[in-house]
Amino acid sequence: MAHIVITSGPTREYLDPVRYLTNASSGRMGTSLAQAALDLGHQVTVVSGPVSVEYPAKAKVVWVTTTQEMLDEARMAFSNADGLIGAAAPCDYMPEHVETSKLQKTGNDLMLHLKETPDIVATLAAKKLSKQWVVAFALETQDVRFRAIVKLSRKACDMIVSNSAQAMNSLDNSVEVILRGGTVLDQFYGPKPLVATGILRLIDKHLIVPTANS
Ligand code: C5P
Repeated sequence: MAHIVITSGPTREYLDPVRYLTNASSGRMGTSLAQAALDLGHQVTVVSGPVSVEYPAKAKVVWVTTTQEMLDEARMAFSNADGLIGAAAPCDYMPEHVETSKLQKTGNDLMLHLKETPDIVATLAAKKLSKQWVVAFALETQDVRFRAIVKLSRKACDMIVSNSAQAMNSLDNSVEVILRGGTVLDQFYGPKPLVATGILRLIDKHLIVPTANS
């Protein structure tokens, strides 16, 4: 039995108290991965941005809003976990300044200065212990396999799940799972729970080292 941390859903970066940047991530892949991991007997902590999907009752869920909060909570959970699956779609940019009161319309264009948010999987993979593992997702529209392998290596992850852009906010997914070193392990297509089961089986086989008491 392993303790697996799953980041899930989008994050939000506020411009002012009522407006924010975000994306269409639904958290469906995260909830399917959580269920698949529980079904294989693992302990699961989900660190989730705001979503309306329900996570399995047996998973511990930590709710966050911003990418920095997701990093802080994922780091805390990962410190006593075996592995991390980065299934979230965190906002990659945040406003340089967050206004404390609602921005008023002036009749002129509004210029936003955005800075990059931290990369959660890359940050945690860079500091992981040798017995810990990190799985990332990659969503690309062209040169899909090549870019996924580049990402796997740049983020120093152990496995990457390359999926299509149609996966976002959809019930189905089509993925290719690639192991560190660039070995393509398998491809799965269909409803997200089915795809998640395939991914978790590969994680079990290639990343989770059996221990004497598991
Ligand atoms: O670089 P890109 O966003 O395409 O990488 C996707 C992978 O990185 C996913 O596993 C996603 O959860 C993770 N990610 C992250 N922190 C970010 C951006 C992406 O953990 N700020």
